[in-house]
Amino acid sequence: MPRANRQRGVERDLRDATQGLRLQRVMADAGVASRRACEDLIRAGAVEVNGSVVVDLPAWVNPETDRICVEGRPLPKPERHLYILLNKPTRTLTSASDEPGSDRRTVLDLVEHPAKARLFPVGRLDYDTVGLVLLTNDGELANRLTHPRYGAPKTYRVVVRGHLDEAAARELERGIYLAERKAGRTVGAVRTAHVELSVLRRDRDGTTLELTLREGRNRQVRRMLSAVGFPVKSLERVGMGPLRLKGVARGAWRELTAGEIRALRRAAAIGSGNQETGARRTPKKPTQKPKKSTKRPSGAKRGRPQADEEPAAPRISRRAIKDAAHGRPGKKKRARGGDG
Ligand code: URA
Repeated sequence: MPRANRQRGVERDLRDATQGLRLQRVMADAGVASRRACEDLIRAGAVEVNGSVVVDLPAWVNPETDRICVEGRPLPKPERHLYILLNKPTRTLTSASDEPGSDRRTVLDLVEHPAKARLFPVGRLDYDTVGLVLLTNDGELANRLTHPRYGAPKTYRVVVRGHLDEAAARELERGIYLAERKAGRTVGAVRTAHVELSVLRRDRDGTTLELTLREGRNRQVRRMLSAVGFPVKSLERVGMGPLRLKGVARGAWRELTAGEIRALRRAAAIGSGNQETGARRTPKKPTQKPKKSTKRPSGAKRGRPQADEEPAAPRISRRAIKDAAHGRPGKKKRARGGDG
């Protein structure tokens, strides 16, 4: 079977990986069947590209310009990808709809785009957190941006109660243990990855800081700060990968520029031509299990449990895990939160 194919009167080679995407993936994305089932359809001779039957794989196609037919029926053209940056106000859900029986405002209620594309939010902010939310219909980009493997940085401006001191700042930077919950039960504790932190301002009863995280655990910023004794008063996401919130009013939105989309795709390791070569397919397990070690972290004081010590189970009391899971400061920490 010849692997060359005509495109606008020009012979071209479907073995040329720079042409875009694997044929079975384009079919699967269009909803034909799973990738594996699409491979079977191709090998059975049911698929034509630009008028020629293709049976050999891999075959690379451009879904924008190639005419692909499955069992004689053309594949629908892919929906144009949209990328919207929204400045989420407070009291708004970061999901497509509320739970049955509830009718709270969602981020989608705030974006009326003429293309009427089926958008979804990339990651989540809490109901009361404000700031940058990316909405798109590009599933691949969304998956990569939210997957810990790619570590897309998210920057938060946080106001906490009390004067955040050096010791708490170092503790947050080194990583602290947060309870891990599954199906409503605490099943262990995970250490947060390194964060970047800078204190912007201290005033009479609070501290304003900027925190950059490369992972996204549930209510992570609130739980981390509560765990070191500084409850969050307000939380705003101001950056996500190369995107910045600046210039978009609260509740308003805009489309990303072409330059921002390129930068975002680079951050998510998606190539501009062959989109399947950007990164390993099987991502690493997202959850860091605590390492078993008897080592004491440098600077830790003997005899006093440290939030960032190695996770030998007895060092984290059930109470501390429960507190962390519910975002409550532990007993010792609570005292510290009061100063300022
Ligand atoms: N961390 C939080 O605690 N809440 C958010 O909304 C985002 C990050």
